[in-house]
Amino acid sequence: MSERLILGIESSCDETGLALVALPQTGAPRLLSHALHSQIDMHQAYGGVVPELASRDHIRRVVPLARQVLSESGKTMADVDVVAYTRGPGLAGALLVGAGVACALGAALGKPLLGVHHLEGHLLSPFLSADPPEFPFVALLVSGGHTQLMRVDGVGRYELLGETVDDAAGEAFDKSAKLMGLPYPGGPHLSRLAVSGNPEAFDLPRPMLHSGNLDFSFAGLKTAVRTHLVRLSLLDHADKLADPANLPVLADLAASTQAAIVEVLVKKSLSALKSTGLKRVVVAGGVGANKLLREQLDRSCARRGIRVHYPELHLCTDNGAMIALAAAMRLQAGQATLSSEPTFDVKPRWDLSAI
Ligand code: KG4
Ligand code: ZN
Repeated sequence: MSERLILGIESSCDETGLALVALPQTGAPRLLSHALHSQIDMHQAYGGVVPELASRDHIRRVVPLARQVLSESGKTMADVDVVAYTRGPGLAGALLVGAGVACALGAALGKPLLGVHHLEGHLLSPFLSADPPEFPFVALLVSGGHTQLMRVDGVGRYELLGETVDDAAGEAFDKSAKLMGLPYPGGPHLSRLAVSGNPEAFDLPRPMLHSGNLDFSFAGLKTAVRTHLVRLSLLDHADKLADPANLPVLADLAASTQAAIVEVLVKKSLSALKSTGLKRVVVAGGVGANKLLREQLDRSCARRGIRVHYPELHLCTDNGAMIALAAAMRLQAGQATLSSEPTFDVKPRWDLSAI
């Protein structure tokens, strides 16, 4: 077998992602094709992800997307050697769709399955970029549900250095944005609004900045945003929030919120680099798409001779490519537990450092 073909299926939240990765006998895995359907438009009407709707939509999308990635790379289902799927963490029903389809394909094709940790997918996604990292490195994982700093010594060698004790950074973006009347998911909307605002206009807390450890806390920030909106008589007033006359003050609040989140993320990452003595940091997860975070981290790290690696921008948020890649890297490292049993064993809660 000259190279193995891995089909990756991501369905942990509100994106259905499929991808094909080729794993040569020597050298790096290559992304052949990937396809994504985002459910953002569907959930926007509810201001957040509705789990039942997410599962039903994954069911509709997963097979057509699988056909699309196969036809785009000139392959057929019979060419697939391993079916990889997101086993957790995530929404139980949504995960079961991907796991169910993977099990069915594996059984029909007589091919093994590989359950992948969603955060490991994010963490390894920069290996698909034009500037891939080398081990070891510090990883800042900033997604909608997780904010963690990890020490990564190799595939499967992850040590948790610190994490959020309450809301994730993505949640802080999303919840603050929702209070400001912005659509779901709030992160990109809030950062767009922040462009015209003054980041020093509002004095917002930098939670746990001086806690002496590498943990985070973002719940207080959202409360502070709420308090400012109450003072401005804007909270829960959809008409006033949409009034162009209030745009400048909302832009100031958005810029101040973003500045607070980014400052904490950057300073804690620098502390993690200092305490581990490592000279490389990888940023992964949806919040890694944030422009200010990238600018500030790049600037601070450049001054200290530290290299920063990101996934390609379109692979920052959830996708199937990172799942197929993580499976390929595990296979290559001899660390994959392949299964030929069609077990529906998803793990909605699952610690990365426990794998
Ligand atoms: O990794 P991801 O796609 O999904 C999870 O695994 O959670 O991350 C989604 C999160 C959301 O909270 C979203 O608002 C945030 O990433 N996000 C951003 C940006 N793009 C996505 N936050 C700030 N700035 C952005 N440009
Ligand atoms: Zn994610």
